[in-house]
Amino acid sequence: MALRDYRTALVTGASSGIGAAAVAALAERGIEVHAVARREDRLKKLAEATGCTTHVLDLRDTEKIYETFADLEIDILINNAGLGRGYESFFVTDPKDIDLTLETNVTAALHVVRATAPGMVQRRRGHIVNVGSIAGLHPIKFALYGASKGAVHLLSQNLRLELQGTGVRSTEICPGRVETEFFLGAFDDEQARRDFVEGYEILKAEDIADAILYALDAPWRVNVATIELTPTEQTTGGATITPVEQ
Ligand SMILES: NC(=O)c1ccc[n+]([C@@H]2O[C@H](COP(=O)([O-])OP(=O)(O)OC[C@H]3O[C@@H](n4cnc5c(N)ncnc54)[C@H](OP(=O)(O)O)[C@@H]3O)[C@@H](O)[C@H]2O)c1
Repeated sequence: MALRDYRTALVTGASSGIGAAAVAALAERGIEVHAVARREDRLKKLAEATGCTTHVLDLRDTEKIYETFADLEIDILINNAGLGRGYESFFVTDPKDIDLTLETNVTAALHVVRATAPGMVQRRRGHIVNVGSIAGLHPIKFALYGASKGAVHLLSQNLRLELQGTGVRSTEICPGRVETEFFLGAFDDEQARRDFVEGYEILKAEDIADAILYALDAPWRVNVATIELTPTEQTTGGATITPVEQ
């Protein structure tokens, strides 16, 4: 069951960055795409460019998720909407950002799977792609964001088990730094943001869309469980050691 066997996709967080790139890549491959986000103007432009169908929706509105997705026959879910807060330090994070992060990155992601997966299982055709992060796999000093993406990681791993025998595949994509609007929201301090993302070449949203297509396009016998991809010049767990003079 490669990409050619799928007909429809639902992409959350489609108004910018990775989601918008995924919509374009899937539409290019002839998939009928449903694009979800809050910013109507952005979705309208995306629809003009790709022919996708748009759904203006705040994913923190759980009832609306079930109302909107109930009648859609979805083969591919790109569960991508998300944000980062608390990048400066967890200990100064606004408590409201804890709720915002978990409601968006975890609760909404779970409800979107709950709303779309039963139809896939019933039709014995489907692929769930959760966009996690390297922060969900490794400690990289962002406790709040890491907690949310750690949940996405174990959601994806457990889905593999729960979907076994249903014909539905599950993939988690774990990017390092990608050039999107994500960091505009993650940092309050502009200089801190620039220090984080500038001075070396980071990933482009299209690189993540390519990775998603690779997983979707794999032959039926292959379930790509996890893809971790970082900029060549970004590593996790590394340290630059300054030699101590003896
Ligand atoms: N950029 C990176 O370095 C990076 C690295 C690893 C993982 N990721 C993950 O990649 C995913 C996509 O992020 P991105 O980098 O493409 O950032 P982005 O350009 O900021 O895109 C985030 C998307 O999520 C949507 N969104 C946020 N809250 C929403 C809500 N309550 N309801 C509906 N849509 C909502 C936004 O749309 P609206 O504002 O229009 O609603 C937007 O389309 C996220 O899950 C992020 O955690 C990003």
